[in-house]
Amino acid sequence: MNADEFVAELENLIRARYAAICVTTFEEERCLLILRNIAGRLNKRVIIWTATKGLVLDGKNLDAKSVDFRTATLMAFELGREPSLFVWCDAHTYLKNQPVNARAFKELCQALRDGCPSNSLLISPVMDIPIELQKEVTVLDMPLPDMGEARRIVDTFVSGYVGHAELSIDNSQEAIESLSAAAVGLAQEEIENSLAKSLVKRRALSRNEVDLVLEEKKQIIRKAGILEYIPTEKFDLSKIGGLHNLKNWLEKRKGAFSQAARNFGVEYPRGVLLVGIPGCGKSLSAKCVASAWKMPLLKLDMGRIFSGIVGSSEANMRIALNLCETVAPAILWIDEIEKGLSGSDSGSSDGGASTRVFGTLLTWMQEKTNPVFIFATANNILNLPPELLRKGRFDEIFFVDLPSEEERGEIFSIMIKNCKRELDNFDIERLVAASGESEFGEGIRLTGSEIEAVVRDALLEAYYRKSVNPDVCDIITQDIVNEISKIVPLSKSRSSDIKHLREWAAENAVRASLSTISDGQRMEETSKSHVSEVSVGRNIDF
Ligand SMILES: Nc1ncnc2c1ncn2[C@@H]1O[C@H](COP(=O)(O)OP(=O)(O)OP(=O)(O)O)[C@@H](O)[C@H]1O
Ligand SMILES: [Mg+2]
Repeated sequence: MNADEFVAELENLIRARYAAICVTTFEEERCLLILRNIAGRLNKRVIIWTATKGLVLDGKNLDAKSVDFRTATLMAFELGREPSLFVWCDAHTYLKNQPVNARAFKELCQALRDGCPSNSLLISPVMDIPIELQKEVTVLDMPLPDMGEARRIVDTFVSGYVGHAELSIDNSQEAIESLSAAAVGLAQEEIENSLAKSLVKRRALSRNEVDLVLEEKKQIIRKAGILEYIPTEKFDLSKIGGLHNLKNWLEKRKGAFSQAARNFGVEYPRGVLLVGIPGCGKSLSAKCVASAWKMPLLKLDMGRIFSGIVGSSEANMRIALNLCETVAPAILWIDEIEKGLSGSDSGSSDGGASTRVFGTLLTWMQEKTNPVFIFATANNILNLPPELLRKGRFDEIFFVDLPSEEERGEIFSIMIKNCKRELDNFDIERLVAASGESEFGEGIRLTGSEIEAVVRDALLEAYYRKSVNPDVCDIITQDIVNEISKIVPLSKSRSSDIKHLREWAAENAVRASLSTISDGQRMEETSKSHVSEVSVGRNIDF
């Protein structure tokens, strides 16, 4: 819903005499402005209640006693005989766990609807309606300023400083356009704050101050504490060994968020789900793709959503998704999505919280029009709800398997390069053989993170050796082979889990690699363009 649709919807609800409407927003001032305009069109006066001033009409306190919530509701019965719009600003805290207040408010809402030409409206930053009022209250989310509104806010602010002797102000259309594009998704006050900060810090407002507006967005993310900004500068797609099918898919979509793609008729990519064996590069891929696409990577911590530390889990999810839209274009990384959603089947023991959180996420995924790309990962498919896999949620579901021979070769090469050693000094073929089925037996191979660990440990051994005797050689292939022989691969200890995962993947996912499950064989994977087209009985030889 954009800003215009929101105003139209709100006006409709007021005209239709809904008993009580709750507008969820942090932007009280902006909401009040909208309400005053609507009330003006409907010839109603606006009476505002706040916890500090009580009932206020045209800037005047109506009665000092009305700071008391119950007294205020009783007074509103009388005042409501004249066409009025009552706006209750801090009321959500007075209604929660306070049955007398909730009852008084309910009676008022019903009386206003049935006998008076008036309406009651709550403005609240959170949707926290007590159960006894849920039938009375209709909830409407106020959208943040869209591009048009952001442009107006920026334009008004910038114009106010044009001609100021000590400031360098650029009010050209290009400058306003760049600042507004960066500001879109922020609340009005936040846009104005970021512009004011630019004036104080740089004595300027121009295209160059876009970074300060974007900094404001990072602040908001940090304050909310639900999403985490993940630094990705050190990563790029070349850091991923193998997974070529996935990499090609991602590479093709790199430009799909541009205006040129939009003009061509291309829709924003929605997202991918990576399911797979632990330690094979799912999280790594999230970081690499964000870096390659030059988009911020926001990690959604499912644990925090449900922690109860910051508000209700459902409200947390809504805040997290709103925040993502604020910084869009962005990548929303939902790591181990199954952990948050595992209880979403009916009969869960958390009072339905995970069902509601899951519902919020699914609806958002279905309806979102913003350039937020979802990068979800999972390594346990047992609890993945089927709704998540349905058409329209993800553009593709990829299965990340144990690395093939070729892929292990690439991963060893990456790890050796990461150690700043010359590849020519190592026998990659030997490492590939030592880390695969010819060494461990059928179906057993090292994962990417195990390869990383053996190279790291071998380096440590070599360092220790040299520290004892400086004349001995640097790390060599044999050091890595020695380390490999010391570990029990995860694919050995968890072979039945892996088998199950592969069976599931054969029917539900596309392979992230181009190469085969078994060492030594190669098979081209034909990428299916959509989840719904992933066929059962694909030609995969497990
Ligand atoms: N395909 C790969 N290419 C290069 N490095 C890899 C690859 N797979 C794993 N690694 C190394 O192993 C580390 C751990 O991998 P990552 O965290 O991406 O695994 P994961 O699939 O997300 O595992 P989990 O399911 O346990 O979260 C990476 O940081 C990287 O160093
Ligand atoms: Mg991971």
